[in-house]
Amino acid sequence: MELTEGEIQVLASIHLLESDGRVADDTALDQRGEHYWIFKEDWTGVCEALSQKGLVRGSEVGWKLTGAGRPLGAKYRAERSDMYWYYYQRFYTAAAASAAHSELCRRAFGEDLTQEGQTDMASLEIGLEALPLGRDSHVLDLGCGAGAIAEYVSDQTGARVTGLDYTSNAIAAAEARTEGKSDRLSFRMANFNTMEPEPGTYDAILSMDTLYWADDLKRVLGMLTGSLAPGGRMALFMNHHVDAGEPAEQLGADQSSLGRAIRALGLKTKVVDFSANIGAFWERNYAAAVALKGQFEAEGNGFIAESLIREAEEEYLSDIHEGRIARYLFLIDAPG
Ligand SMILES: C[S@@+](CC[C@H](N)C(=O)[O-])C[C@H]1O[C@@H](n2cnc3c(N)ncnc32)[C@H](O)[C@@H]1O
Repeated sequence: MELTEGEIQVLASIHLLESDGRVADDTALDQRGEHYWIFKEDWTGVCEALSQKGLVRGSEVGWKLTGAGRPLGAKYRAERSDMYWYYYQRFYTAAAASAAHSELCRRAFGEDLTQEGQTDMASLEIGLEALPLGRDSHVLDLGCGAGAIAEYVSDQTGARVTGLDYTSNAIAAAEARTEGKSDRLSFRMANFNTMEPEPGTYDAILSMDTLYWADDLKRVLGMLTGSLAPGGRMALFMNHHVDAGEPAEQLGADQSSLGRAIRALGLKTKVVDFSANIGAFWERNYAAAVALKGQFEAEGNGFIAESLIREAEEEYLSDIHEGRIARYLFLIDAPG
């Protein structure tokens, strides 16, 4: 059945509200709509249109999914789980053709690998050196985006790399760009929140600034651990923020969400502390976004600069200034 993007958003939203035991009335739907930020479609008349398609029905208190609407709502909620999916769909398409973004990556990261995280080239090299990488190894890059980092890893080491991401435009761009390297590079669209372990598959798993989107970090980490081959190792880069007034010891790696998940699973980890680098990284990233804003706008990609500037000003710069952010690389060995 053909659905408009607005119908998909409303269907997914009613599914989410129903799962939370809430009624999908106008107020709840309006609140839910805010989660889509600038990617919210016009929802006027959408419930009525969905009702005509037999996917929802109106009641005295609000809208309810029908038997036909529920599986579709579940599917779209899993596939386009948040506004970030919409952001990344737009971002990776734009970034692939953006000279401004290439320049931003060179200034902030040291090289253009269409990065969207916070791992500069020096940090990436430290992560890669800690992993068992060679011609015989199979590597997973979880949250690979447009796959340029996965490609770099394979080019540098000869390893076979699988890139995985839930953003279909990013996977399409990665596949198109690396067509001639398909013997050692493959890409897959998947949501790690619903993935099952692939036992013994990967000698190394790399994931940078991606596990923030885990619905249940312990479950996702267990799934990843279960996918490591014997002797395999994971390298996971993550930031850890604390609120104003929280004691300094809360910034420790063991107090972070990933540190707690590692402990809960009884895994062994070695932590490399990159907290001293995060301030300089954001200064470069922010300065580049401000300086290149005009070029981004001229390309029609102003949203990339705006989003980075907002992220820096509203989140990172004050946290860094007040010492409320840490950045860690967690190295986790396959159990046994
Ligand atoms: C901050 S970006 C980091 C990208 C890349 N690792 C880097 O360092 O440049 C996070 C990536 O995770 C992906 N992502 C977010 N949630 C996901 C999920 N549930 N399943 C799969 N990929 C997801 C996004 O599409 C995005 O490419």
